[in-house]
Amino acid sequence: MNRIWNSRFAKPAVFLLCLLPLVLLALRWHNNELGINRLETVARYTGNWALRFLLLSLCITPLRRLLGQNGLIRFRRMIGLQAFFYGCLHALHYFWVDVQWNMEIIREDLTIRRFFIAGMLALALMAPLAATSFNAAVRWMGGKRWQLLHRLAYGAAMAGVVHFFWQGKAALWTPIYYGMVLGALLLYRGVYWIRQRMA
Ligand code: HEM
Repeated sequence: MNRIWNSRFAKPAVFLLCLLPLVLLALRWHNNELGINRLETVARYTGNWALRFLLLSLCITPLRRLLGQNGLIRFRRMIGLQAFFYGCLHALHYFWVDVQWNMEIIREDLTIRRFFIAGMLALALMAPLAATSFNAAVRWMGGKRWQLLHRLAYGAAMAGVVHFFWQGKAALWTPIYYGMVLGALLLYRGVYWIRQRMA
């Protein structure tokens, strides 16, 4: 299996796969298949994919260790960047299409409504990760500090799940499922950390 992950076609293939949700959204938009409230559908779709990619990027390390698939690490950065990309599309949709840069509404939403504050926090935590995702940044910061900074991904995922939970529109179970995945990832991290300390 590791040979597949390490092949030179693997990265472009995963990149294209990550863009598939966007292509499908564009097709559904073009074919008028997004329902009556298609703007809301776009907001929810991009928000969901941002969170899915974020959680997926956090799954890479446990999967790599548990399954012995070291080659998977090649995709972690790319998947994390896709999470940020979909998060930006999602936020841009709100600023541009939803409230059309009405600063009065934006100020009110982002300062008073806890749901928006959590969403903004999630995106703000992802921004430094995206900004330091290239090799030169890793060299410049040093591996340890870079890894420490990239723990922010957990904070971003927590804020994303809370954001979804506070939205209160979708069935309550969906954010709970995301929360359970995140909980399992944090538990794995905790157990791994304790075992390493004990060893
Ligand atoms: C400035 C940042 C953000 C703003 C202004 C924002 C705004 C919104 C809005 C307006 C909705 C409701 C859509 C609707 O039902 O009409 C929403 C839902 C959602 N957002 Fe965000 N968001 C932000 C960042 C994020 C980030 C970074 C993530 C993921 C990590 C995220 C994940 C979600 C999810 C999962 C939903 C619920 C989708 C559903 O109902 O199925 N958001 N957001």
